[in-house]
Amino acid sequence: MNQLADRLQQIRTAALEALENITNQVELEEIRVRYFGRKGEYTTAMRGMGKLLPEERPAIGKLSNQVRTQLMETIESVATDLAQQKREQQLLAEQIDITLPGRSAQVGKKHPITQTLEIITYIFHGMGFQVAEGPEVELEYYNFDALNTPPEHPARDLQDTFYISEGVVLRTHTSPVQIRVMEKQQPPIRIIAPGRVYRRDYDISHTPMFHQVEGLLVDRNVSFSELKGVLYSFARQMFGQQTEVRFRPHFFPFTEPSAEVDISCPFCQKGCRTCSGTGWIEILGAGVVDPNVFRSVGYDPEQYTGFAFGMGVDRIAMIKFGITDLRLMLENDMRFAEQF
Ligand code: DAH
Repeated sequence: MNQLADRLQQIRTAALEALENITNQVELEEIRVRYFGRKGEYTTAMRGMGKLLPEERPAIGKLSNQVRTQLMETIESVATDLAQQKREQQLLAEQIDITLPGRSAQVGKKHPITQTLEIITYIFHGMGFQVAEGPEVELEYYNFDALNTPPEHPARDLQDTFYISEGVVLRTHTSPVQIRVMEKQQPPIRIIAPGRVYRRDYDISHTPMFHQVEGLLVDRNVSFSELKGVLYSFARQMFGQQTEVRFRPHFFPFTEPSAEVDISCPFCQKGCRTCSGTGWIEILGAGVVDPNVFRSVGYDPEQYTGFAFGMGVDRIAMIKFGITDLRLMLENDMRFAEQF
């Protein structure tokens, strides 16, 4: 009997020692099989139970149960430890260094010209004007002829106009939209037409592409004083209530009388670089629609009168946002766009 008891003690000591040095699940499984597998050391030893005397059995039975329970529990707890170790290693491996500073996303900004167009549109919308549009590649007819600008007029000069082909140009102003609207609609008309225009011009204060907003109002008994009222209201909403407006007589083929319109310089009392020392800045051309323009769209000039205007948006944006160099508008530098 002592032989079997000794053997069980040996197994316990050896197994416990082996279990202390386990480093992974495979090794643990090897130990389990080595002692408790079908040919395992514990299993084999227990076959000796049969040879025991009946009075020896209770004590040996108790010992063998103790050994078995102790070893099984140890195996179990080693397994739990190993699983936890594995999880910790995994967490460590997957760890994210949250102390790294983040990279902020670049958020786009509206170009100052887009913003200016939106403000202009908003102001005229408030005075009952609707937005109209026309093509940038335009027939010479709409760009010139229908606007009372005959073929020999200097404005058609190759020096100013980009010709696409015979009779087709890049529009040099937004005025042709007036004609397109009037061809489709009867008075009363109250529209603005924002858009890109093109001229063969490139120097410090001109780019070959720039922006205009056209305005047209046609109804019965429209007078020059209404034109003044609309433009005063626009100028003061755009540049502030203290803004003064000045009309200078001018000539445009499509209006009679015509005027160039200045606003008082928002930057100075009397004379700075922006207004070239004059205290005034020109922002648009305007006038009473010439009867010939009405005739070209089939309106009766005896019944209807109207006024029109065309403003330079790039210039207005520069004044509004205090931009001193026109070229900055076209460089697509985010550091520029971010300032507005
Ligand atoms: N189209 C003119 C230009 O580009 C601006 C203009 C002046 C438009 C008078 C008008 C107007 O409608 O009545 O210089």
